[in-house]
Amino acid sequence: MLPTVIAPSILSADFARLGEEVDTVLAAGADWVHFDVMDNHYVPNLTIGPLVCSALRKHGVTAPIDVHLMVSPVDRIVGDFAEAGATLISFHPEASSHVHRTIQLIRAAGCKPGLVLNPATPVEVLDYVLDELDLVLLMSVNPGFGGQAFIPSALDKLRAVRKRIDASGRDIRLEVDGGVKPDNIGAIAAAGADTFVAGSAIFGQPDYAGVIARMRAEVAA
Ligand code: DX5
Ligand code: ZN
Repeated sequence: MLPTVIAPSILSADFARLGEEVDTVLAAGADWVHFDVMDNHYVPNLTIGPLVCSALRKHGVTAPIDVHLMVSPVDRIVGDFAEAGATLISFHPEASSHVHRTIQLIRAAGCKPGLVLNPATPVEVLDYVLDELDLVLLMSVNPGFGGQAFIPSALDKLRAVRKRIDASGRDIRLEVDGGVKPDNIGAIAAAGADTFVAGSAIFGQPDYAGVIARMRAEVAA
């Protein structure tokens, strides 16, 4: 298993003070910045784009920026995010006409590619492309909003994806996104996740360091 990564979703941060929020959460022990991009087309919500990603880099953020694209089409925005300083770029297969090509585009742009599985997306979507990926992002809510409840069937699905990753023999991260809290992160880790997105659980209360420490302790337990 790869070392645990905690990736706070800035969707639940105070956007009026975004640079400060990101500095604070990284100082509180976060590893990555999870950056949710929504287009009001692929998902019914509208958030942030490459401009905000490059603003965080200019602000001095050096931690990996984990861009989760909930946009359709995907390909034409990949280069802009690479230039804006994205480290990883993940996308939904339903939003791309040519999944393999999009993965190659992300890699060629200098970023690490990830594929996102919605709650109803079968794990077979990983067939033929798993070896090209650095990350599988498993959604444990339907994409579009923070603060939703974890869908329990995601645990079985995590176990199924874990098996495939282990069989591949490659260091592919298994990230889970949606409804992750200190009281369920232990079970999520036991099912095979090594990378944990949490938005409302971290930014929805004042003690970022405390909740990140609790999450790490539960993963290690
Ligand atoms: C949902 C986003 C998530 C979201 C998670 O579409 O991909 O990253 O911000 O928020 P919580 O942790 O509140 O479920
Ligand atoms: Zn996300």
